[in-house]
Amino acid sequence: MGPRDHFATRLGFILAAAGSAVGLGNIWKFPFMAGQNGGGAFLIIYLAFVLTIGFSVMLAEFTIGRAGQRNPVGAFRALKGGAWPAVGGLGVVAGFVILSFYSVVGGWTLAYAIKAATGALASNDPETLGAAFGAFISEPEGVIGFHTLFMVLTGGIIAGGVRGGIERASRILMPVLVVLVIVLAGRAVTLEGAAKGIDFFLTPDFSKVTWGTVNAALGQAFFSLSLGMGAMLTYASYLDKQVNLPKTAAQVTILDTTFAVIAGFMVLPAVFAFGFDPAAGPGLTFITLPAVFAQMPAGQVFAFLFFALLAIAALTSAVSIMEPVVAYLIDERRMPRRWAALLSGVMIWALGVPSALSLGPWKDMTIGGKGFLDAMDYLASNIMLPTGGVLIALFVGWSISARAQEEAQSDGSHPFPLIRVWIFICRFVAPAAVAWVLISGL
Ligand code: PHE
Repeated sequence: MGPRDHFATRLGFILAAAGSAVGLGNIWKFPFMAGQNGGGAFLIIYLAFVLTIGFSVMLAEFTIGRAGQRNPVGAFRALKGGAWPAVGGLGVVAGFVILSFYSVVGGWTLAYAIKAATGALASNDPETLGAAFGAFISEPEGVIGFHTLFMVLTGGIIAGGVRGGIERASRILMPVLVVLVIVLAGRAVTLEGAAKGIDFFLTPDFSKVTWGTVNAALGQAFFSLSLGMGAMLTYASYLDKQVNLPKTAAQVTILDTTFAVIAGFMVLPAVFAFGFDPAAGPGLTFITLPAVFAQMPAGQVFAFLFFALLAIAALTSAVSIMEPVVAYLIDERRMPRRWAALLSGVMIWALGVPSALSLGPWKDMTIGGKGFLDAMDYLASNIMLPTGGVLIALFVGWSISARAQEEAQSDGSHPFPLIRVWIFICRFVAPAAVAWVLISGL
């Protein structure tokens, strides 16, 4: 084997990590989660989790990945061994589960980009838009076809390797998406009747907070920051010593969160302005935004651009979900990259099929009262990622604490003033908070 493939520049790494974090989690999931969980209260709890546990676990993943220079399983083995590699294994499994449904929604964005281009979305009537989404979602050929296309694109980028595929794709398109989301949010908040939505999003009503709200906010924090399954760990394994890890973790955390909040301003005011239901769930973004586009000059152009860029943001995230799986097969199973991409791609695709059908023909097949896609999302985001994240925090806080502090500060070249706070959060705060949330759910 040759030397390990590495990111060319620090900027390349930031963009790749941000490309992983910013995706459907921000633009599709965050607004509907906030809508379902009471708006403002959800936002505040979410922010609290992001700033404490989210940032800390991200730095922990960066640290383990760069110190270990391997896939999640191999990194834990290289640094400590014992039962710890199983944490990496849990992450690889979580990657399978997440990408299976993520690819389905990614497929929706591809389909909507095409619909937008052909003018099929030009309406601002909630009924019409809801019916159009419903019709699209219940027709198996379409949803499975686009799920397949999305998986093929993801696998294709993965097969190209770190520098050729991931870095180049992230570099170019992210900035364009930022601008577009800001423009759309600007339009949404100035709609007539938008004030009610802004109020809903910004004024917390803590009387509505239940255990479910807290769990949802925790899961969303992990999901949106790409934490708890080794995605950030794997990206950091392609890093050299010079990069300032705490600074990079802070930048990625802030960028991702800002993106989610702006997406909230893009969707929720429009929900109220047009009389949609904020608790509509996974379809919310897809039925609300077309109504916003219909209110804009050159709306069709904006609509196409938006869904195309969202598909690309989703792709850069999907690549980061698949990379740990593939890195595992390459490092630990000695598989060539292309074969690893093909094998895992086919398996993930197959697991995605029930999700693809779950809002349409297989609507009645439920697990614990949820449709298949929702159930996979819940299992991964609300259970697997927080569990993985806590184990990662415990590993750094207790098992390799001294080594982790050195690595996080690049052996003294980037001193981190909050290093003790970080270790304290990893040792006590993150485990206690997550355990409390998960256990009170039982
Ligand atoms: N953070 C990504 C998003 O918000 C999803 C993701 C989850 C990526 C877990 C990697 C790992 O869309």
